[in-house]
Amino acid sequence: MARQAIILDCDPGQDDAIAILLALGAPEEIELLAITVVAGNVPLGLTRVNARKILELAGRADVPVYAGCERPLVRPLETAEHVHGETGLNGAVLPEPTTPLRDGHAVDAIIELVMSRPPRTVTIAAVGPLTNVALAIRKEPHLSQRLRQIVLMGGAIELGNITPAAEFNIYVDPHAADIVFRSGVPLVMFGLDVTHQVLVTGERLAQLRANGGRVAEAVHGLLDFFNRFDMERYDAPGAPLHDPCVIAWLIDPTLFAGKDCPVEIELEGRSIGRTLVDWWNTDRHPANATVMREVDADRFFTLLTERLARLQAL
Ligand code: RIB
Ligand code: CA
Repeated sequence: MARQAIILDCDPGQDDAIAILLALGAPEEIELLAITVVAGNVPLGLTRVNARKILELAGRADVPVYAGCERPLVRPLETAEHVHGETGLNGAVLPEPTTPLRDGHAVDAIIELVMSRPPRTVTIAAVGPLTNVALAIRKEPHLSQRLRQIVLMGGAIELGNITPAAEFNIYVDPHAADIVFRSGVPLVMFGLDVTHQVLVTGERLAQLRANGGRVAEAVHGLLDFFNRFDMERYDAPGAPLHDPCVIAWLIDPTLFAGKDCPVEIELEGRSIGRTLVDWWNTDRHPANATVMREVDADRFFTLLTERLARLQAL
């Protein structure tokens, strides 16, 4: 895939942090235009700090960070400190950032970055609740036609993780997700069905740590903490490394497989936030997303380990 200009919208979060680092380790494939942050795993006051902590850890304070929405469009904010810890980056003690946030709201930054470049050249990689992305689509009516694609971590074909039916990112802001999935923008969806195939096992964690240096030590601490909740809940050998799947696909699409499906967002009732994926196209509706369902987990972790090793050289 040719080098892609991306905006990474996130709610760091340990797995978001690894996604940021992976993007920084792929300069040949990815031009990281900016990071936009949203409330999700932890409140905006922390996600806007955490993104800069990770950039400074990797020596990349040059990447612009814009703060976005502090709450979902309609629902009250629900956060996930039970998974990520009270800071959102528990497991690593990182210095407070010295780099200021960029002026302006993330929604306006997304619009400006996309509309100032040729059509169909900018990708949004979204790995948190879709509040910023949805508002940008609504505020700039031409954005949907201008974007290359939105590649997102969210949803599930089958079971949820924050309710029996819903995955966290979609559940936190289902109305934003509905706007995105109805936007007509080419979508690539990485749901729990595929992210739960890339587990941070002890062996893989050791390989990441063996890179050596401050980045590897921080990655080890972050993922060691991140592992504990899901390993206990799922009785699994490691936690699913959700968000880096989006970046890994942008680097090497051959790692994953899926198919085009109609996807709707449940907006009410006990299943609110569920992505209703019509995998067998029973309703004969047009497909609005490529839904990923398979991944080569060993190749994924080989790529991740190799690319994070490049950051030690900084
Ligand atoms: O459900 C997993 C998703 O929710 C990941 O993006 C994680 O960081 C949280 O935001
Ligand atoms: Ca996230």
